[in-house]
Amino acid sequence: MQISGARVLITGASGGIGQAIARAFHVRGASLVLSGRGGEALDALAAELKAQVAAADLAQVGAPERLAEQAGEVDILIANAGLPGTGMLESFSVEELDRTLLVNLRAPVVLTRQLLPAMRERGRGHLLFVSSLAGKAATAHSAPYNATKFGLRGFALAMRAELQGSGIGVSVLTPGFIREAGMFAKSGAKLPPGIGTRSPEDVAQAAVRAVERDLGEVDVAPLGLRLASAFAGIAPETAARVTRLSGGERIARSLAEGQRTMR
Ligand SMILES: NC(=O)c1ccc[n+]([C@@H]2O[C@H](COP(=O)([O-])OP(=O)(O)OC[C@H]3O[C@@H](n4cnc5c(N)ncnc54)[C@H](OP(=O)(O)O)[C@@H]3O)[C@@H](O)[C@H]2O)c1
Repeated sequence: MQISGARVLITGASGGIGQAIARAFHVRGASLVLSGRGGEALDALAAELKAQVAAADLAQVGAPERLAEQAGEVDILIANAGLPGTGMLESFSVEELDRTLLVNLRAPVVLTRQLLPAMRERGRGHLLFVSSLAGKAATAHSAPYNATKFGLRGFALAMRAELQGSGIGVSVLTPGFIREAGMFAKSGAKLPPGIGTRSPEDVAQAAVRAVERDLGEVDVAPLGLRLASAFAGIAPETAARVTRLSGGERIARSLAEGQRTMR
């Protein structure tokens, strides 16, 4: 779908990846509606990109419906807002679990439900969901995050099948570890040598490509990580054993510790 002139709703626009996506779509001539819970980062970005702000706490039941209404006639939805959801399951309060499920999974599903009828009427549109390689490969200390990212990826792929031939494209992005900004960079976790990262701008360029070419699923990670997560999809037991033996659980634990305050 052509981005120039399109009205694009971006959730999580105040975050590391959301800001990069917003800038990339602005450069291509989109008219932006930026969403987050509100605050300085969102207002500053909106002023820079001459965009509309539509603040919403997506952990509140009813908020996605109100956001869809406020955003008006949306051509492209970029469902990017997310919480890390990392840590041992028992370390989460039920309220924290609910928040992760609501923001990461329920909100994109309900937003899609609300925006789709008008897209169908116009016979065009694009839905882009930011999942993760954690939507393909499960690891210890990440169960709530894995649950939502597998769920979001499944939703996106199912919607893509459902909307074939409708003029409405559907894409899912699956980034690996993103450096410089965003929830991995903020955690301060260190990766062992050889596990590469990508930048927020790489994710933004992948989002642009996915919308322009209607790509179904786009990994944003170095080849090694992409192959490892594809293998985990085929042979999860063996992949989990390899992760354990290669010290992968230590990385997952330190990531969860660094993200403890982001629930
Ligand atoms: N960073 C990575 O390495 C990585 C890798 C794979 C996938 N991802 C995915 O990429 C997406 C963006 O993540 P990021 O790295 O940019 O993280 P981030 O910098 O922490 O940004 C998270 C965004 O989600 C929004 N958000 C959080 N809680 C919300 C709520 N209750 N209601 C509405 N918005 C809420 C935040 O907005 P406010 O705080 O302003 O409300 C913020 O804009 C997420 O879906 C994440 O799972 C990230």
